[in-house]
Amino acid sequence: MSKQRVLSGVQPTGSLHLGNYLGAIRTWVSEQYEYENYFFIADLHAITVPHDPKTLAKNTYTLAALYLACGLDPAHTTIFVQSHIPAHAELAWLFNCITPLNWLERMIQFKEKALKQGENVSIGLLDYPVLQAADILLYRPQYVPVGEDQKQHLELTRDIAARFNFQYGTPDAPILSVPEPLIRAEGARVMSLTDGTKKMSKSDPSEQSRINLLDSPDEIRQKVKRCKTDPVRGLSFDDPERPECHNLLTLYMLSSGQTKADVTAECADMGWGQFKPLLTESLISALQPIQARYAALIQDRSQIETVLRQGRETAEQAAQETLAAVKNALGYSTPL
Ligand code: TRP
Repeated sequence: MSKQRVLSGVQPTGSLHLGNYLGAIRTWVSEQYEYENYFFIADLHAITVPHDPKTLAKNTYTLAALYLACGLDPAHTTIFVQSHIPAHAELAWLFNCITPLNWLERMIQFKEKALKQGENVSIGLLDYPVLQAADILLYRPQYVPVGEDQKQHLELTRDIAARFNFQYGTPDAPILSVPEPLIRAEGARVMSLTDGTKKMSKSDPSEQSRINLLDSPDEIRQKVKRCKTDPVRGLSFDDPERPECHNLLTLYMLSSGQTKADVTAECADMGWGQFKPLLTESLISALQPIQARYAALIQDRSQIETVLRQGRETAEQAAQETLAAVKNALGYSTPL
């Protein structure tokens, strides 16, 4: 039996942090041999808010190197750059013409980001989820592993696929496959170091709120030293009054590879002064191997280039097939 396909992407904006790693990429890595994997770098999405042309390509390579450093294995996983495959933008245009405007106007992430942008809201920001639908539907994945915040975008993708099939296909010959979200519970939510009720996020203006995968041991020490705690003695999970405590114990549990029961027992009588150095050392040693692999990859770019070239070839073929089927269904003539 052939493996089921999963696909997901990350934007090359900001630096990858522990929330991205522990919440998503770590699981992509550990489950990559069970699936056929497509993981890409969403650089077309990266310009939906104002961006700096000087860093776009560099951030794209950094993210590719981090994918590899975190353990994605290019022998089993197709890694590619969205903008290298023109079919993404082309299919997004075709979907634009069958997607009702009001489906986009009610997207929560659009409304939140638009508020932050003030006057400077581009059509691309509104259209973001249509491009995401194209990203997904081009490759016909069964599953799309995403965080809670992307659930609505996946719903929209499913709606676009169903609408397209209804309008241009027949019930026994659907043109697009409808994917399922793959939302994983454990470790999926790493919270900010400055507010235990908010998700750790690339877009938080405060660097102190997150630990980046490429933070130096000193930066990690400083961030843990300054992170928000509470005045209670004794540390425990799952106390709704102590979101920071829950988050820091979770980080310790995940980075040290211990069970919740172990950590509960070990930390029950600790104060923050005793716990913080433990957490710091555990984070530093968990990130050390990733950082070492990253340093080697970024020094000799040829390996990343080879991976992205091969990724592009594999992805291009799959994408072209779907695009051709969609254009055919819409009645386009074939290029001569
Ligand atoms: N919107 C996603 C995010 O910010 C990134 C993304 C773009 C994506 N296209 C995708 C994720 C397709 C999954 C599938 O996290």
